[in-house]
Amino acid sequence: MKAITLASNGGTENLIFTEIPTPAIKENEVLVRVKAIGINPVDAFVRTHPFALEMFLQPQPGEPVIIGWDISGVVEALGKAVTQWKPGDEVFGMVNFRGHGKAYAEYVAAPADQLALKPGNISHEEAAAATLAALTAWQALVTYGKVKTGEKVLIHRAGGGVGHYAVQIAKHFGAYVIGTGSAAKKDFILGLGADEFIDYTATQFEDIVQDADIVIDSLFGDHIFRSLDAVKEGGRLIALLVPFTDEKLIQKVRAKKVYAHTLNVSSSGEDMGRVAALLRSGEVRSHVSATYAFEDITKAHDEIETGKTIGKIVVSLP
Ligand SMILES: NC(=O)c1ccc[n+]([C@@H]2O[C@H](COP(=O)([O-])OP(=O)(O)OC[C@H]3O[C@@H](n4cnc5c(N)ncnc54)[C@H](OP(=O)(O)O)[C@@H]3O)[C@@H](O)[C@H]2O)c1
Repeated sequence: MKAITLASNGGTENLIFTEIPTPAIKENEVLVRVKAIGINPVDAFVRTHPFALEMFLQPQPGEPVIIGWDISGVVEALGKAVTQWKPGDEVFGMVNFRGHGKAYAEYVAAPADQLALKPGNISHEEAAAATLAALTAWQALVTYGKVKTGEKVLIHRAGGGVGHYAVQIAKHFGAYVIGTGSAAKKDFILGLGADEFIDYTATQFEDIVQDADIVIDSLFGDHIFRSLDAVKEGGRLIALLVPFTDEKLIQKVRAKKVYAHTLNVSSSGEDMGRVAALLRSGEVRSHVSATYAFEDITKAHDEIETGKTIGKIVVSLP
């Protein structure tokens, strides 16, 4: 099968378009013929940072390194213990995160319980988009944030992959949503259903919001302190990048009685199924701003590395 392997850490020239054997499936896995792959900032992070291979993929010695976790495709074969799928089913999911997902390939061996049925009303591209990013939004807001009707939710990077799903999921739960982005993203973010937009290039968001029930923070550095200023006393602060290990940060969290959690998104067919239900009902939509051919994966990496994308970018296979 065709696959894209990572020769070594570095630039996009290290992504090698190659032929390798189709993966064998274990008894709890299905073989998925991949139709579309979602691209995430972590893909480029793993490509560029030597320590990230161990941190995210932990490849077996000698096996080809294949980046990527987000797939949508068609079930081709079943492991002996698999009962919930049949050949021909259209499925999508985030495969083995954290672990060696091996998504940049024509075929992926995926644990059967990490997949959900692709809604018939959306394309494989829209489904592949709604995996890691949508699961992150779900787990941040619902699993850990426990969002409720009427709560005020501040979502940073609301125009990006995670953010654009988070806005829609928070609205589904009846929250009052404030999204941040640069002015160019204003119409997009309000169009997702956000009640307010803050242009982070012009305004300090914490000057406007100090009473959020939940803040979803997805930036590095001191941004987390500012997000803490925006949460009300007793509120929830979910971080996607920063661990709550800094002593000053811990003290401030305690003083404000805030529930603070750093999320590491994890593969879950159950959560994928909950996202699928919202995609099926149309309450959540994937905004795919760019689709690249499999052979053009380096262009997708170049784009995701800008940190400026709208919604999601995906790669499409024939
Ligand atoms: N912990 C986890 O499990 C987990 C899971 C998923 C993602 N993440 C991390 O979370 C981050 C977001 O992921 P993503 O996929 O949503 O990224 P993304 O799609 O690349 O985000 C792009 C968006 O970020 C916006 N942005 C950049 N700087 C901003 C700022 N200071 N304030 C507000 N918006 C800003 C950009 O808007 P403008 O162009 O308008 O600036 C752009 O629309 C990444 O660092 C990713 O690695 C962590």
